[in-house]
Amino acid sequence: MEKEQIKELIMQAIGQLQYSYAPYSKFRVGAALLARSGKLYTGCNIENAAYTPTNCAERTAFFKAISVGEREFSAICVVGGRDGILTEYAAPCGVCRQVMMEFCDPDIFQIILATGTEQYEIFTLRELMPQGFGPGNLA
Ligand code: THU
Repeated sequence: MEKEQIKELIMQAIGQLQYSYAPYSKFRVGAALLARSGKLYTGCNIENAAYTPTNCAERTAFFKAISVGEREFSAICVVGGRDGILTEYAAPCGVCRQVMMEFCDPDIFQIILATGTEQYEIFTLRELMPQGFGPGNLA
């Protein structure tokens, strides 16, 4: 991925922190998902008083994209921190990694973890989900 595109994804993910609804954990998360179409889909975490209905930022972005017809994806940037302050990487939870397995090629899909536009690391989905279970297992 080109540096400028990475920066853009990071900025879009950071821009989502303001919309995060996290009154319980106070942990704000933002995501920016790049579809193979070139379109970008953003997401934030959305908590709930009953706790379990909470949706992570990554899944918000994926479900927005899927719901308008996207099926192929290149990369996602995730940022997060308490009160929206980015001190360390916020890696996707297991459920979000599983959702990624459904729609992404684990050897190609890139997960950008960032604390700023100049501080980031990139992982493939395979690296974060070794020996994962996906649609291929049911084929
Ligand atoms: N969270 C995300 O949005 N993404 C992750 O991958 C990790 C966790 C959210 C869920 C909850 O609102 C808060 O962070 C604390 O777990």
